[in-house]
Amino acid sequence: MIRDLILRNRSYRRFYKEVDIKLETLRELVDLARLSASARNAQPLKYILSCEHQGNSMIFPHLAWAGYLTDWPGPCDGERPSAYIIILGDKEIEQSFGCDHGIAAQSIMLGATEKGLGGCIIASIEKEELREALEIPPQYEILLVLALGKPKETVVIEELGSNGDIKYWRDSKGVHHVPKRSLDDIIIG
Ligand SMILES: Cc1cc2nc3c(=O)[nH]c(=O)nc-3n(C[C@H](O)[C@H](O)[C@H](O)COP(=O)(O)O)c2cc1C
Repeated sequence: MIRDLILRNRSYRRFYKEVDIKLETLRELVDLARLSASARNAQPLKYILSCEHQGNSMIFPHLAWAGYLTDWPGPCDGERPSAYIIILGDKEIEQSFGCDHGIAAQSIMLGATEKGLGGCIIASIEKEELREALEIPPQYEILLVLALGKPKETVVIEELGSNGDIKYWRDSKGVHHVPKRSLDDIIIG
């Protein structure tokens, strides 16, 4: 079960725009993050939810998509995410956030996958511009944006080629290929 869920939990960057995600669904996903591990149990993460056109359109311009696909500027108007979860670190609770936000992001993405949704963890963010657009107070550090929707693309895992290239690529049919290192390559002792 967990292997299947993790296999299906790929990074998706094109979506069926017409499939909405309800605020309640985003709240359920954040609840999975709330219940996840946190260093010293400090629980410093806070969240901004967006599932309406107006909020979404203020977030999208500040995200960078698929850096290796240099000729692709990101999803076109009809294929953009239906919702976003912005993960913030509350600096009144902690000054640094360790890997809490990675754990939270994975919990949310697995929950989304279980619900038949998908998305992408995005760290390449114009943080100051996003802060201004959403009027996010300085107390909160912007850590990650999770883009969510109903995936409209196929993503396939590949073995790493003999040249060791880890760059993902998209083929002529639009299928996205993601090379993964082998188990023997990553277990070193
Ligand atoms: C911490 C983190 C930051 C990421 N930032 C971005 C990003 O800014 N833009 C993007 O398109 N993908 C981003 N990704 C998605 C990765 O490119 C993706 O996980 C990788 O290509 C492997 O594909 P997979 O998730 O399907 O296994 C990020 C992933 C992680 C874990």
